[in-house]
Amino acid sequence: MLATSSDIEKAAGVLRAGGLVALPTETVYGLGANAEDPAAVSRIFQAKGRPPSHPLIVHLGGGEQLGDWVEEVPAAVRTLAEHFWPGPLTLVLRRGRRVPLEATGGLETVAVRVPAHPVALELLSAFGGGVTAPSANRFGSVSPTTADHVRAELGDAVDFVLDGGPCEVGVESTIVDATGDTPSILRPGGVTREDLEAVLGRPLTVPSTSRVRVPGQHPSHYAPRARVILVEPEKVVAEAGREQELGHRVGVLLPPSCADAPVKAHAVVDVPASTAAYARGLYGFLRELDQRGCDLIVASLPAEEGLGLAIANRLRRAAGPRLAV
Ligand code: TXA
Ligand code: MG
Repeated sequence: MLATSSDIEKAAGVLRAGGLVALPTETVYGLGANAEDPAAVSRIFQAKGRPPSHPLIVHLGGGEQLGDWVEEVPAAVRTLAEHFWPGPLTLVLRRGRRVPLEATGGLETVAVRVPAHPVALELLSAFGGGVTAPSANRFGSVSPTTADHVRAELGDAVDFVLDGGPCEVGVESTIVDATGDTPSILRPGGVTREDLEAVLGRPLTVPSTSRVRVPGQHPSHYAPRARVILVEPEKVVAEAGREQELGHRVGVLLPPSCADAPVKAHAVVDVPASTAAYARGLYGFLRELDQRGCDLIVASLPAEEGLGLAIANRLRRAAGPRLAV
């Protein structure tokens, strides 16, 4: 059942009491705590099984609050915030005194965003403060895009789940490092590189997925249980058939260019032709293939433009070397 206004009040009370609330955002569901309560923030790491050195995002109810949480707001940041907030853009800035080091994994910088989901905004307004929230999944696994995903994965580790329906965007926010003179993209996401560049009037760099730049950006992340292998789109069908013959239970993310091809596999998901629909569905597709018992997923990367950049980033990480946890 979707969250009512009394659910929102109850959730705000849980946050004030130092508890954990799962909240819907337009990207993925977050596991929220009072950003200014170090004990509550520590509970997030326990619930997720995430190392405490991993920095979290502080969610605010409006861009006008930004100055309370960071040391200074450069002009380019103000422009980005005005254009993209509320929305799937996270800005990394120098930490204001209000932000405890527990929330930043010990860093002197802090990641901040204003989410574009009515339930999240109502909660932030009822609560009044900042809410630190990573994605509401166990460390390293696929982010949740429905309240049921959160309940299935975190169960009793979360005190209250606000249901806001399925997430519209489906992949996490774009993270922009705005601590230096030239902003750069740390993680591609729901706001496209092209849109950011149009507003800033200059090109932005995007890191390669092969290097770990900051804690929380391990090569393997966003991963289903099944092993993921990436091949060229025209080889997906042949590779799936070969692996299935070898005795694997193969799941396929079938690219739109192969739409009507017969596939020999255990389970097939037709990838939507629109990247917005693909992003919205991606984590649900990976969860579905896990649930159907696949031990191997064969997929290909979409063109790395628009939302395709974020989708390709998540698929590469899902296919990356697994963490020893
Ligand atoms: O869409 C989203 O961003 C979702 C929703 C819930 O808002 N949140 C999310 O949080 O994806 P999480 O914790 O799963 O990923 C946040 C990432 C961290 O893994 C880290 O890489 C980066 O943000 N991050 C946070 N603070 C940072 C900082 N001070 N410097 C550099 N990177 C930072
Ligand atoms: Mg996450």
